Amino acid sequence: MSIRRLLALLPFFLLTLLPAGPPATAAAVVAFGTVVPVPVTSTVTTGVTYGITASTAVYADPGAEGIAERLAALLRRSTGYPVPVSAAPGVGGVSLLLSGAPATVGAEGYQLDVTAASIVIRATGLAGLSNGIQTLHQLLPVAVDAATVQPGPWPVPGGHIVDYPRFGYRGAMLDVARHFFPVSAVERYIDQLVLYKINYLHLHLSDDQGWRIAINSWPNLATYGGSTAVGGGAGGYYTQADYQRIVSYAAARFVTVVPEIDMPGHTNAALASYAPLNCDGVAPPLYTGTDVGFSSLCTSKELTYSFIDQVVGELAALTPGPYLHIGGDEAASTAPADYAAFINRAQQIVAAHGKTVVGWHDVTKATPLPSTLAQYWGTTTRDAAVQTAAQNGTKLIMSPANRAYLDMKYNSRTPLGQSWAGYIDVKTAYGWDPGAYLTGVPASAVLGVEAPLWTETITTSADIDYMAFPRLPAIAELGWSPYSTHNWTAFKQRLGAQGPRWHVMGVNYYHSAQISWPGGS
Ligand code: ACM
Repeated sequence: MSIRRLLALLPFFLLTLLPAGPPATAAAVVAFGTVVPVPVTSTVTTGVTYGITASTAVYADPGAEGIAERLAALLRRSTGYPVPVSAAPGVGGVSLLLSGAPATVGAEGYQLDVTAASIVIRATGLAGLSNGIQTLHQLLPVAVDAATVQPGPWPVPGGHIVDYPRFGYRGAMLDVARHFFPVSAVERYIDQLVLYKINYLHLHLSDDQGWRIAINSWPNLATYGGSTAVGGGAGGYYTQADYQRIVSYAAARFVTVVPEIDMPGHTNAALASYAPLNCDGVAPPLYTGTDVGFSSLCTSKELTYSFIDQVVGELAALTPGPYLHIGGDEAASTAPADYAAFINRAQQIVAAHGKTVVGWHDVTKATPLPSTLAQYWGTTTRDAAVQTAAQNGTKLIMSPANRAYLDMKYNSRTPLGQSWAGYIDVKTAYGWDPGAYLTGVPASAVLGVEAPLWTETITTSADIDYMAFPRLPAIAELGWSPYSTHNWTAFKQRLGAQGPRWHVMGVNYYHSAQISWPGGS
């Protein structure tokens, strides 16, 4: 053997002198502490992993087969293993059980136990099992998110988690009015929301620039009012069957759709579609700009209220969830007294159709029904009308625009989005407490949080990805995790660990400089 060849082999001889490294699988084991939102309690069992193999099956208690199928489908796609689903109990494998969870987990929580022999998720209800499989998903190697078969191995770190949400309402809003998004884009977004345990999808279905849901009794709303979008491009609308597909897709993933028809302002698309809805009987042209506050339904016409009754009636019949959002924001073209009278009447109409009203917090200037939820979108931490309403029993959804609005730019260089509420990088999105944000509003008045994404500048799923990631998971953690876990340094590590997963999933996330992304940015 030549000297040169000996020298070339030297590194391999030296390697054999090193202490034995971790087993080959260890490199792929996801750290237990990377789950977002951070679980209430988790204990890692050092050195123990469960390996998903060609013989792994998923066992489901009666009723949980659909959840088991979703988990199995995820595993089959990237492992290539058969992953059969069968009735519990099974030996080894993954079990989804509706018994044995501690009562503390409530309706949406779960207990997860990973040992060398099995993975067991226990919950008191299906929503809890669904949340449990999201945690398991995040504990699988990132290659599980690939769309094609990968070599593996597929270790899951051993340990024990007991987890449940801080707030019952953890939402995201998508504005499909300023730009229209097809059903497939909404379903893609739902998949992303579910991974972070968000349980409400608020769809902003109408605005000045477009009406996006077919209403049989007022067909021009969709066919004419939905025909364009911001910037003048082609619009679009959901048929009632499309909307029901979204609702069912969401429901199968324990996400409740909250439809919004914004009124009395933000109504140019409706006013353009039907001249009699206008006080002067003249339909304005369609609008494709981005101004706000210039349109109003005619609050003095009886036709306005039969219009709302029919629209709300059809939408309520298509919506199994409890809520119907009536907007109510930025009604600058409606006199204050007319606004209050209109909102009070609109609330009664929604209630008559069996739904609970949600409105932007502007509705606190009217007389909220005891059940009405107000969605706070202000940029200050004090609001007299909201404070009074909360003290009188109104529950709040917190979406402060300078914290939770996903359409705000990250900084001055962000190519998409707006900046009227300020720049929002990840630390700002994460750095607040929804339960203690508004002066004079107790935590008990807060039902939860929501991250709205307005789409004046957003036109594709890649754009949605860019604005939602990584801020959406920050808002999701505020909604789920106990505030005692709130810690920016720890959060940014967990969040950074999600980056490789988003990369594999094809999520076009913003590589915020505030986060150290494994493998660089
Ligand atoms: C809003 O941003 N106008 C609710």
